[in-house]
Amino acid sequence: MDTKIEKMNCDEVDLEKIEEFAQLLKEGKTVIFPTETVYGLGANALDEEAAQKIYEAKGRPNDNPLIVHIYDKKEVYNLAKEVPDTAKLIIDKFWPGPITIILNKKSIIPSRTSGGLDTVAIRMPSNKIARALIKAAGLPIAAPSANISGRPSPTRSEHVINEMNGRVSGIITGGDCNFGLESTVLDLTSDKPMILRPGSVTKEELEAVLGEVLEDPTLNKKTDNNVKAKAPGMKYTHYSPNADVYVVYGSDEGVIEKINSLVSEDREKGLKSGVMCMSERVDKYDGTVVDLGESLEEVASNLFDALIEMDKENVDVVYSEIFPMEGVGQAIMNRLLKSAGYKMIRAEGKKDILVVCSGNTCRSAIGEFLLKEEIKNSAKSLDNYYIHSAGVTAIEGLEASENAVSVLKEIGIEAKTHESTVLTEKMVEDASLILTMTNSHKNYLLQTLPKNKDKVYTLKGFAGMGDSDVIDPFGGGIDIYRKTRTEIGDCVKKIVQKI
Ligand code: TXA
Ligand code: MG
Repeated sequence: MDTKIEKMNCDEVDLEKIEEFAQLLKEGKTVIFPTETVYGLGANALDEEAAQKIYEAKGRPNDNPLIVHIYDKKEVYNLAKEVPDTAKLIIDKFWPGPITIILNKKSIIPSRTSGGLDTVAIRMPSNKIARALIKAAGLPIAAPSANISGRPSPTRSEHVINEMNGRVSGIITGGDCNFGLESTVLDLTSDKPMILRPGSVTKEELEAVLGEVLEDPTLNKKTDNNVKAKAPGMKYTHYSPNADVYVVYGSDEGVIEKINSLVSEDREKGLKSGVMCMSERVDKYDGTVVDLGESLEEVASNLFDALIEMDKENVDVVYSEIFPMEGVGQAIMNRLLKSAGYKMIRAEGKKDILVVCSGNTCRSAIGEFLLKEEIKNSAKSLDNYYIHSAGVTAIEGLEASENAVSVLKEIGIEAKTHESTVLTEKMVEDASLILTMTNSHKNYLLQTLPKNKDKVYTLKGFAGMGDSDVIDPFGGGIDIYRKTRTEIGDCVKKIVQKI
């Protein structure tokens, strides 16, 4: 099939050109266009034969219904049998934008478009090219993501051209899609609204408008034959690059170490492996590393591109970091787990011991160095431990105090490399043991992060040497620093026997 291709800019839509593509849609042909989520493969939603062409171009199973894209909010009343108040609230708040609602359909929607269901999925996109095209066609446009069925959804101009040229009548490109993951699909046909597919409009945002919102219980689970996903499309293999994908979880340090060891094992087997991670850890991994970005929003927008990039790099295996299941993280993990076929690897990792004080320039720094030294001198291997320190009121990146460095130097330990670190919630969560210099540090952790209470001890308490505070040498002379070193050193000897 000859494909008419036009490269456009979302901010300067060429209406004359749009008219030519709208004409193709009016003739019952297929046109790919950008949306704010992913590229869509469109055809007249009211025309059975046109809708059939979408299934053929994608190789999509026939029971998987299409989303109908509209230009004007009022169009909903032509397509849906009834528009409940919940739908009106969503439309007012989020349209045009990345959310699709499921309503009972009118008979004007052919069963080819609704995949044989009595309901219809409707969405009003905000992308300017999409809006101009739907307006010019004067039709509701059925449009699934513009990928071959099972592959990652396209989010960049080159993805659609590489994958779909020759399979459709027209392609309009418009650069990168903003969100990069498909719209949230919300079923409004039952008593309680239910998310059938998480997307960039999050559960939290929906609940702020609608009150309680349920989630399809099959989300993020490998579907077995007994439990049926409510969105038919969610049961199919999805977002799969050619490589085998695994999601690796555990502490940050553990994940880095695990992935690097898997990459090196793969290399010995002659396999090429890729790693997908957040920007801050790009330098820590071996293999073909793809940077997913600095924030969850960036990860969402880069994820499909990264999976497609892995194919270009011809990797055999992909290891991805895991992301928090909150906000847009839910949509990310939903897509990532599907692309991995739910294969996850737990990083056993090292035993993570975190030493805590206030500024992380005196006591906790001394504690960290003495603990490392003591482990080195014991029968244990430092390779099995991740020993670090942080301060609850620390300033990031300061050197250890001069006297702390001096008293460690006196016993042959070089501490000049130390940089103070601010204690974060993530560090507390990842740690397997937390040793505080004082009871007030311990109480602070118990109060602010109570679910970690079982792993928080004072240094002396864990060492079995009473429960008093380690003296604070801050601002004092060398003698008090020596005393602090001895006090901490005595505890550390006992601690190493227990870990
Ligand atoms: O962001 C998006 O939604 C993109 C862009 C192009 O708009 N479109 C998209 O369409 O992702 P598609 O076909 O790849 O995914 C539609 C999802 C499928 O999981 C499908 O099963 C579900 O929505 N769906 C469609 N109609 C439905 C219905 N009546 N009831 C339940 N689920 C439905
Ligand atoms: Mg899709």
